[in-house]
Amino acid sequence: MKLQEIQQIYRKTEPLERVDGAQRAGGRALFTDDIKISGLLYGRIIPSMVAHGRVKKIDISEAAKVEGVATILTCENTLVRWPSGDRINERLVFAPTPRFFGDCIGAVAGVSREVCEKAVSLVTADYDILPTSFDPMQSLSDESTKIWPSGNMQKEYSFEFGDIQKSLSESKIVFENTYKTNRHHCAALEPAVSLAFWDEGKLTVHASTQGISRCRHELSLALGIDESRIRVICKFKGGGFGNKNNAMDYDIIAALLSREARRPVLLEYTRSEDFTNLHGRWATSQRVKLGLAKNGNTLAYDVDAICDIGAYGRHPAGKYVGGPENLYSLKSMKVKAIPVYTNTPTTGNMRAPVGVPSTFAFETAVDEAAYSLGRDPLEFRLSNLTNLSEGSIPFSSNGLQECIKHGAEMIDWQNRFQLHTSGDRDASSAVGIGVALAAWHSEIETSAVKLKVEADGSVSVSAGIVDIGTGAKTALALIAATELGLNRSQINIETGDTETCPPFIGESGSKTTATMNMVVKQAALKLKDMILDRAASRLHLRKDSLRLDADVVRSRETDGKHLSLKELASSSEPAIVVTEMVEAKIPPNVARSSFGAHFCEVNVDFGLGKITVERYVAVHDSGHIVNRLTAESQVQGGVVMGIGLALMEELVFDHETGTLLNPSLNSYHIPRNDDIPPIEVDFVETNDPYGPKSLGEVPVMPVSPCIGNAVFNATGIRFREIPITPERFIRAMI
Ligand code: MOS
Repeated sequence: MKLQEIQQIYRKTEPLERVDGAQRAGGRALFTDDIKISGLLYGRIIPSMVAHGRVKKIDISEAAKVEGVATILTCENTLVRWPSGDRINERLVFAPTPRFFGDCIGAVAGVSREVCEKAVSLVTADYDILPTSFDPMQSLSDESTKIWPSGNMQKEYSFEFGDIQKSLSESKIVFENTYKTNRHHCAALEPAVSLAFWDEGKLTVHASTQGISRCRHELSLALGIDESRIRVICKFKGGGFGNKNNAMDYDIIAALLSREARRPVLLEYTRSEDFTNLHGRWATSQRVKLGLAKNGNTLAYDVDAICDIGAYGRHPAGKYVGGPENLYSLKSMKVKAIPVYTNTPTTGNMRAPVGVPSTFAFETAVDEAAYSLGRDPLEFRLSNLTNLSEGSIPFSSNGLQECIKHGAEMIDWQNRFQLHTSGDRDASSAVGIGVALAAWHSEIETSAVKLKVEADGSVSVSAGIVDIGTGAKTALALIAATELGLNRSQINIETGDTETCPPFIGESGSKTTATMNMVVKQAALKLKDMILDRAASRLHLRKDSLRLDADVVRSRETDGKHLSLKELASSSEPAIVVTEMVEAKIPPNVARSSFGAHFCEVNVDFGLGKITVERYVAVHDSGHIVNRLTAESQVQGGVVMGIGLALMEELVFDHETGTLLNPSLNSYHIPRNDDIPPIEVDFVETNDPYGPKSLGEVPVMPVSPCIGNAVFNATGIRFREIPITPERFIRAMI
């Protein structure tokens, strides 16, 4: 495809501001913490003061005397299972055997935050101290530390295609290195929060959740009550990066406290509790072998990984590491990942959970291979691209090559890239550019939507989605307006309430927009048909002589009769309404993926070890872009997060006690405005037969290798561990 053609494609979508933008910006959006209910109590959790131990006795007598305390629940009197708390082991919301410093052993409800804090500080607990491990290698070798009765390993993950030994032995060159990624925290703007109350045995939870239906389902499992007795509402959510896509322990605890106190309870985490008690991303150490043919063709990728998953590993798929199987042509690939427990906080899904550590490893390895062979890393990548997933299944659409070519033009790779790295350490600084690619699977979830023509002629669209910040509501409104041929202003959107919206499992795997596109399309066809039926009988005309033109049904004859949606809906007849469900599964012989090509320019200050990203270019193929404005901001958000992971973000644990040493935004650095360069975003809109593809996760994946590769280009120093902090940089220089 020619660049002009690509540009025509990606310029065709006009941006649309968020449907709830004014509400959010004007402070009128009600987040969980803003909801006012009379008689509200506050809740706080009681943290364990040991990293591993058996609770012998909890003394709540002093805490109970604090005026205003309503109820105190602990692992001594309340044993409730958190179904998704760990992938294989049974985890209780109040842990009788706490497994990390800060693990929740109980909770307090009281009339104010101060009352709860005072009460928590007066609770004392005795423990039988158990042996600890804060390091995955120790967990694997030390027999005395048993973090779980079943052992210190979660189920090993392995995946293989082709014959890896054969491909490696056929390789003329094998690059072997170990790549490390550290523990990350999601740092959502809105810390963990849940508001629960009971009314005649029926539970309502204002959850800050990514998925109302899944949250309700899991609450029902935990509390042993029917789903029909639970209502979960989430109208506004202050960021979700994978760590809130089930019911969380704090949702269950808020419900338990409220049931006991017989009053509504708002359970909040402080920012530091958010760091310790909400899961983050696991750490990896990946030993990689990349095998190449004599001409530089990629043949084999073999990765052996050890993953530190903390005391509880929540990642539902249990896949902790992957490989480059959707980017590069490979004869064989083998992944073996051993998830290992340590006495540190929980890990689980976080934006591109498997993708971030894996992409850092293989996109650095591929870059190393290119430089070693004296090849331009961009040309090297282009020459090794594949259109087959896992070596055999063709992609439904793949615009990666166009993304690379377009991004290369935007950053002016041809003129700016020099293979010979300056590496002149006598200079005070150096400049370099880098590239990295990523692919992220794109699925479609079973889903439902309700469309209804209202008495005023507008159409209401109801879906059980939660807009976690991606602009999903806006995309839903746009899709519905387009399919029905109406103006955006004629569409009303309703989301985030299990009582009023059709069920939807929730946001995970960046599936919401792609899924809604499919189901709304089907529903719109049916609704239009119903509208024509109704008009035909009212006008006494044949249906096939009528057409829907915006909000008016017209006869095809020029002087024909017409009826507006308002006239059709405000009759005494039943409402024009359709609830449509699709069990949308991509056929098994189809691979579907989104792609991204990232480029950046860095400036490295040798004296300070400070890496500044000067320019960033991100070009993505996510199929049809429903709304360019929110799509661009998703990519920019992903890049910002990725810059944090590349250069500054790392949870640090004390070697002696396992306490998290940086549980605050003062000490766990996320990017600030002045850390972020202009981020130039573009799209290559491939025409995928299943519609728009995923977008939320893929932009965070290539950022750390892209920056690491640019640092190598600038300095000749190769970093195989992120984040590349000034300290790591200075150490590498010595
Ligand atoms: Mo996502 S990290 O599957 O919510």
